[in-house]
Amino acid sequence: MTQLLPATPSAISQAAQLLRDGQIVAFPTETVYGLGADALRPEAVLRIFAAKGRPADNPLIVHVAEIANVEPLVARIDAPARLLMERCWPGPLTLVLPKAARVPSQVTAGLDTVAVRFPAHPVALALIREAAKPIAAPSANRSGRPSPTLAGHVYADMNGRIPLILDGGACSVGVESTVLDVTGPTPVVLRPGGVTPEALRALLGEVRVDAAALAPLGEDAAPRSPGMKYKHYAPDAAVMVVSGEQTARIKLACQRYDSAVAAGERAVVLAPAENQRAYGGRVFRALGRTGYPGEVAAQLFAALRELDAQGFQRVIAEEIEAEGMGLAVMNRLYRAASFCVEHAGEAQGIIEN
Ligand code: TXA
Ligand code: MG
Repeated sequence: MTQLLPATPSAISQAAQLLRDGQIVAFPTETVYGLGADALRPEAVLRIFAAKGRPADNPLIVHVAEIANVEPLVARIDAPARLLMERCWPGPLTLVLPKAARVPSQVTAGLDTVAVRFPAHPVALALIREAAKPIAAPSANRSGRPSPTLAGHVYADMNGRIPLILDGGACSVGVESTVLDVTGPTPVVLRPGGVTPEALRALLGEVRVDAAALAPLGEDAAPRSPGMKYKHYAPDAAVMVVSGEQTARIKLACQRYDSAVAAGERAVVLAPAENQRAYGGRVFRALGRTGYPGEVAAQLFAALRELDAQGFQRVIAEEIEAEGMGLAVMNRLYRAASFCVEHAGEAQGIIEN
């Protein structure tokens, strides 16, 4: 049985006690809900992998509630990493740093680096402080599913698998933290997220974005971030993304919608609110407004879960510009679609795979 409790001080105390006892609990962060365990206890960490059905070679992020608490977890903190901690924390930025020996290999999946983050959610911070431990926490979804941005999403995936979910309402950012590798001479964004590459460049100068942010990994490519090789964020419905110039893109989306419906599928268009009229009477789910990628990010995972709950079999999603938060949105959307992307305006639509 899984308890779902509003995140009151007494519920947070109960959760902190569970963490100190080596159990796992779900809690809200500003990005998505996390599933936490004491990062320094391998048997507690293994419970996370079991509850999620997560492959053992995908490492976890360790959460802290003070910058000073990073020091025991890492081998060193160079000046750029220090600057980012001071300027971006608490917030949706995860730093990959050389690990200290005391961090169990179960947390880092055997890597010699560890990912650390200082979240900006009052419930997450209260929980970490009261547990008085570094907390390893992936997103609290079953592996492969859209990340949870509401406590109800966690409950749907984890009921019966974990003792407690703290309900802190909707997550404001809606996509996960940016994972930035700062172990080399040039920082590399391994996963785009709540802190944009543009914001990082304003602080650091040169910052690369890993090619896997917007492209499928090649067959033998070794991912720099193991999480990138797995099927991810996928609802039960088949998702396809249409790209290209707006008029042509909407026309293509209409064609794909109409052929899905003709084939007997329940289809829906997922696109910016102001495009709804262009779709005539087709079933439409608004996802933020053009020019406001932060709105799209905040609603994306909840929308995918809702469309599943409503029984849609085919989701035709309009691409948005991969700038600012749009990069994190398209990183998630391409994966939700297993890279089924069709470009409008080419002689023959190309389905990339
Ligand atoms: O916003 C977030 O980051 C949320 C909340 C709960 O904090 N957590 C989250 O964790 O998204 P998870 O486990 O779903 O994603 C962690 C990502 C994975 O892609 C993993 O491969 C990568 O971070 N990662 C973790 N440790 C790493 C390391 N040492 N080197 C490279 N990538 C790492
Ligand atoms: Mg995840």
